[in-house]
Amino acid sequence: MTSIRISDGIVKDEILVVGLANKSTKGSKSTALSIESGDLALDNKALLATLQDLGATGKAEEIIKLPGNSTRLIVFTGLGKASPTYDNEVLRRAAGSAARAIAGNSSATFSLPAKNAQAIGAIAEGAGLGNYLFDRFRGSSKSEQKTPLKSITIHSELAKKSDVKDAIHKAEIIATYTHLVRDLINTPPSHLTPETFCDAITQAVKKAGGASAGLKVSVMTDSQLKSKGYGGIIAVGQGSSNPPRLLQLSYSPKGAKKKFAYVGKGITFDSGGLALKPAKGMEAMKSDMSGAAAVCAATIAIALLKVPIAIEAYAPLAENMVSDTATRPSDVISIYGGKTVEVINPDAEGRLILADALVKAQEGKDLDGIVDVATLTGAQVVALGTRTSAVMTNNTEFSEKFLVSTKKTGEAFWPMPLPIELRASLDSPVADLANIGERMGGMLVAGLFLKDFVADELPWLHLDIAGPAYNESAAHGYTPVGGTGIALRSLVQLALDSISQ
Ligand code: BES
Ligand code: MN
Ligand code: ZN
Repeated sequence: MTSIRISDGIVKDEILVVGLANKSTKGSKSTALSIESGDLALDNKALLATLQDLGATGKAEEIIKLPGNSTRLIVFTGLGKASPTYDNEVLRRAAGSAARAIAGNSSATFSLPAKNAQAIGAIAEGAGLGNYLFDRFRGSSKSEQKTPLKSITIHSELAKKSDVKDAIHKAEIIATYTHLVRDLINTPPSHLTPETFCDAITQAVKKAGGASAGLKVSVMTDSQLKSKGYGGIIAVGQGSSNPPRLLQLSYSPKGAKKKFAYVGKGITFDSGGLALKPAKGMEAMKSDMSGAAAVCAATIAIALLKVPIAIEAYAPLAENMVSDTATRPSDVISIYGGKTVEVINPDAEGRLILADALVKAQEGKDLDGIVDVATLTGAQVVALGTRTSAVMTNNTEFSEKFLVSTKKTGEAFWPMPLPIELRASLDSPVADLANIGERMGGMLVAGLFLKDFVADELPWLHLDIAGPAYNESAAHGYTPVGGTGIALRSLVQLALDSISQ
């Protein structure tokens, strides 16, 4: 765990991170720069002259390192256009870029412009999120990796305020559990199976305090799933020698004000099954359990933050493989609760395991809302790209609330419709419904499939995170290559914002 502290004293670290902004007006030849070092005064005149000579621009993602006076190094991180107040996400990203750029050192102090607890928290979060390395599977190349900072200090005059201390504590938890999500995503399917996923979460729950933190894990094995009628999870997992599981993680605080169910897609590898995916890019399908990792880690984070909202998290887990026992196109399966599905395409497997878990989550529980999180469709990536996730719902009020929460976190979500006319394309000539329908609007069709398994009167959100869950290009801001940990922050924020609503 990265430790993050707050201080209003003198800077003790050898590295100081500050902001650099651009205040040029359009058309002017030279770049006018502004050093944004928050509550720390620096010798700006001399530094600005050097920065000009170096051609600094202050643009986002720009990092400039200069020898310092009282510190060994001053690291300037781009904030973009100069402004009296900066957007929290601008601060979060700038801190994250800087944390990545100074990996290999042991500690740093961040002093960026922040006037309140939220902004200070965003800086701490960005620094903590950017401070990440996944090297578990490196052998001879391990020593070449630049290790993350061991300690992060945020400098602010507001250090003694209790809401600022709380924001730092929250940032530490958010960073730690986002790292857990990323670790699970990055772990190869040779090592992360439905069973070892359950082991990892059981361990993480223990580490977080287990029952004394209000947390409880239970796992259903493949034989239990089979005898209880979880036809979706069984059908998807039956082609693999790594048997499926259904993990349940509950957080039950005393005096809970509300209760939500969080359901996450946990395909530890998606080969496509008998609808085998092309080899190119298939390796990214180790990330198909991102939703499951996000809901489990978010639940632990919510418990550690002592949020008085009960959470029932469900992670249906299976490996979608090819073999003579794999589900065939045209097989008919029975989802938990009895609805039958004709499996036309075994690569549309996420909705099958989610259907089982959604039905289970609603069983005899007085929920105030249910949220599923899934790397569900390639169509999501086509529609919204790799950095914006989709939210679909049966209750606009709930999704609007959720979108307000997501904005605070810096995670990009965008509302998508569930057009009723597309539902007919999921009709099957032999079963209650088919697992694929109209190809156009595939993300919405998948959402409509899930909607069939949620009671109309229960507020429900479906989050399709297919693109944003896994970064296949370069690192940026606080986002590394590989698993990103998307959705964790919004799931935590939704719980926090639901206390008083
Ligand atoms: N796991 C994939 C979706 C996916 C695609 C996630 C790209 C992340 C990046 C999902 O199981 C899948 O294969 N979906 C199919 C559905 C189709 C067969 C209706 C798809 O999107 O092609
Ligand atoms: Mn698939
Ligand atoms: Zn999948």
